[in-house]
Amino acid sequence: MKVTISPITGGLRGTVYVPGDKSISHRALMLGALAEGETQIRGLLLGDDPRCTADCFRQMGAEISDLNTEMVTVKGVGGDWREPADVLWAGNSGTTMRLMLGILASHGQRFAVVTGDQSLRSRPMKRVIHPLQAMGADIWCRSGGYAPLAVKGRSLKAIDFQSPIASAQVKSCVLLAGLFAEGITTITEPEKSRDHSERMLRAFGAQVEVEGNTVKVQGGAKLRGQQVQVPGDISSAAFWLVAGSIVPDAELLIKDVGINPTRTGILEVLQTMGAHIQLENEREWTGEPVADLRIKTAELQACTIGGSLIPRLIDEIPILAIACACAQGTSIIQDAQELRVKESDRLAVIAHHLAHMGVQVTEKPDGLTIVGGNSLQSAHLDSYGDHRIAMSLAIAGLRSKGVMTIEGADCATVSYPNFYASLQELGAEVQTLDS
Ligand code: S3P
Repeated sequence: MKVTISPITGGLRGTVYVPGDKSISHRALMLGALAEGETQIRGLLLGDDPRCTADCFRQMGAEISDLNTEMVTVKGVGGDWREPADVLWAGNSGTTMRLMLGILASHGQRFAVVTGDQSLRSRPMKRVIHPLQAMGADIWCRSGGYAPLAVKGRSLKAIDFQSPIASAQVKSCVLLAGLFAEGITTITEPEKSRDHSERMLRAFGAQVEVEGNTVKVQGGAKLRGQQVQVPGDISSAAFWLVAGSIVPDAELLIKDVGINPTRTGILEVLQTMGAHIQLENEREWTGEPVADLRIKTAELQACTIGGSLIPRLIDEIPILAIACACAQGTSIIQDAQELRVKESDRLAVIAHHLAHMGVQVTEKPDGLTIVGGNSLQSAHLDSYGDHRIAMSLAIAGLRSKGVMTIEGADCATVSYPNFYASLQELGAEVQTLDS
């Protein structure tokens, strides 16, 4: 599908409800599927990624109701999942594949094969295979450490793992394996990544201890079904936070957004760039902080992003790059080499796309230098099958000098099925065409 976005003239105003948090949605489905009893999930993301997670765990014996309802129920297998009769399909979802691997590897004598789309089959899996092998897991992969992956479940032993990367998927994979291993599994990260697994594991009854960047889980805990209310995804809200800042005469209220401190790097960076963001109605949903976010047009200034901030805004860098292109001055994004192994090589794709919009941009091994403040030229660009690239281009289109055409725009359904409809409701001119 191809989408065209015209530059916006009449401002951008209104209230937006963003879809449920993708990370929390995966975890609610997975822990619900492993728990004893029933889990009720409200606000689940109905994107392609959680649908893959739900289908995989259905194949493993969990009873998961139709996802297109206000409340999804999950009848868990009580830790004792069934051997899947066919290959498990993780689609485009790194979270599905990496977290599930920790579960598949740690359950006795069942065989499973996991694969995904072309993008997922080119993403590194050694980062989860190695710690699991250190726990005693039996895993096969394509040469270089790529999916499809084959696993034969076994009883694992606890490890003390120093992760070379700050990755919530690696941490969560090891924690889930550790949940079924003998003893206390410890994982330490170089920087703290999102902590939704730690929070939700505790809510479901696991014993989890956190000290700085170290997390410990006690093996053998029994999980019990819970009621989960999934907050709106701050990674989806990020598109509106930037749109509301860079579009003249904008004011948006984004309701019920998760503001877990391990995810709020985007708020801090935009605020240092001069954005007008207000947090209203702060409260807590199932152990996760939530607020409404109000955003108004602002003159943005350049920023420097790096270090421990990177894991706290890792998925927002494509849209932040658009903010940088519209800000006065030269912005620097560094320590972000992880972006090269996301749904696309995001550093290369952003650099290519910004250059085609007439922005002066330099690609570095671990980041980008973006000279902002000049107008964006209209362009005809490809999403490269990456949902966050497609949506970032759409927001850039609101501020470009002519029509922005996005090929492969439909991949937004991975994390934000109603994105283009919401954009239209807020006053943008959006046209959808068959490619
Ligand atoms: C996620 C962790 C992050 C993030 C991804 C979701 C998760 O990936 O980019 O979109 O739900 O744990 P990494 O763990 O690879 O950093």
